[in-house]
Amino acid sequence: MSATVEPTSPHVMNTYGRLPIALSHGQGCRVWDTNGRAYLDGLGGIAVNTLGHNHPELVPALQDQVSKLIHSSNYYHVTGQEKLATKLTEISGLTNAFFCCTGLEANEAALKLARKFGHDKGIERPEIVVYEAAFHGRSIATLSATGNPKVQKGFGPL
Ligand SMILES: Cc1ncc(COP(=O)(O)O)c(C=O)c1O
Repeated sequence: MSATVEPTSPHVMNTYGRLPIALSHGQGCRVWDTNGRAYLDGLGGIAVNTLGHNHPELVPALQDQVSKLIHSSNYYHVTGQEKLATKLTEISGLTNAFFCCTGLEANEAALKLARKFGHDKGIERPEIVVYEAAFHGRSIATLSATGNPKVQKGFGPL
């Protein structure tokens, strides 16, 4: 029988209340911790692992891409990005897509677009309505929009 692995992160900034487990791998909607215990993955990377773990089509597609280009930046046209944007606009009926890496970037972009829309309409101080007790991200703008004093504490002025 193997010894229990104690999950600790002394060198990672303590910005989250972490559960005392470390996950090692997953299959579909199941994950296993470093001590071999299985779990049903109800969190899904905070609702972003929509295809689950080790998906038979996603994994080869990712492997294929990283073997070609790891990243090229937005200084060039990105053919795969255009392909996805086309699909998204067809599905949504919207005109174009903005790609970003995190939830806070998406919310930050939404805040900026709302402000720009307001300014373009001649509104000097456009107001943005947000929910109380919500969480919108860790940047200053999204933290300002987060109606939860507990997570805003220490980061003012917002
Ligand atoms: C509802 C909600 N909005 C925004 C965010 C921020 O996303 P990210 O951590 O990817 O910036 C989170 C992350 O926990 C979230 O739960």
